[in-house]
Amino acid sequence: MTLTDSPAVNRAGARYGDPDFVLGATSPVIEQQLRHRSVRAFLPAPVTEEELQAVVAAASSAPTSSNLQAWSVVAVTDPARRRRLSDLAARQEFIAEAPLFLVWVADLDRHHRLAERNGRPLDATAYLESTLLGVIDAALAAQNAVVALESLGLGSVFVGAVRNHAEEFADELGLPPHSVAVFGLAVGHPDPTEVAGVKPRLPQTAVLHRETYNASEADAGLPAYDERLAAYNRAHGLTGAWSERVLARLAGAAAMAGRDRLRGILERRGLPSR
Ligand SMILES: Cc1cc2nc3c(=O)[nH]c(=O)nc-3n(C[C@H](O)[C@H](O)[C@H](O)COP(=O)(O)O)c2cc1C
Repeated sequence: MTLTDSPAVNRAGARYGDPDFVLGATSPVIEQQLRHRSVRAFLPAPVTEEELQAVVAAASSAPTSSNLQAWSVVAVTDPARRRRLSDLAARQEFIAEAPLFLVWVADLDRHHRLAERNGRPLDATAYLESTLLGVIDAALAAQNAVVALESLGLGSVFVGAVRNHAEEFADELGLPPHSVAVFGLAVGHPDPTEVAGVKPRLPQTAVLHRETYNASEADAGLPAYDERLAAYNRAHGLTGAWSERVLARLAGAAAMAGRDRLRGILERRGLPSR
């Protein structure tokens, strides 16, 4: 896209809550990514099998460490199972409401099965590096899926709360050892009456460093960002700014809803992460 056919709406400005921020280069893909928002209210219309296959093809197109493809995804449409998964994931109602719940799995069991069939060792999978590799592969695949489904007019929200009760989640989905659910993705047609918008992000000065990391420059924009996010929150029936929410979310194990037990769970699921 050239500057002469630049869009009428400054979507980069909306992304940062700063109308003065304008991109000098853009593309249809970037313009779509700038419009991203999590969707937590869905219409009952199903996601078609064709749409699911297209979204998984986009997920499979993500880069993957050493082409190990250490991820799987479980597509859950059964309403009773979605209700049980919702109960396990902090009773978030949209999991039961969305017609499709995708559970993204860091999956090293495929590789274990391969090694077993061939009578070969697979000792590297016991290390934290391998667990991280599976989590990274799953995340890259899932975000590719998000971009794809948004391009189809669908909406979604990630669900990290699948890790609140990771063992019960694994039981409900019949996950094999050497695998763990990393996050879910509730998917469906966005309910147009949902009160939500493009949530402003940290300014580029906070996240983009030149050559070396500069903490004081990075943090200089935080007060202005707090004001922008507080304004967004007020407009959408929410309270607080960024700094106070971060400090509450990361204060300690009490705010982790069971995820503080994850190391032991990984060990029991055959991902010792040494
Ligand atoms: C890994 C991950 C886990 C998340 N878990 C939840 C969740 O359990 N519940 C929820 O409502 N949103 C969840 N979210 C969505 C974030 O809250 C949301 O992406 C963030 O506030 C930014 O808002 P936006 O996506 O609308 O731009 C999660 C996002 C990610 C990336």
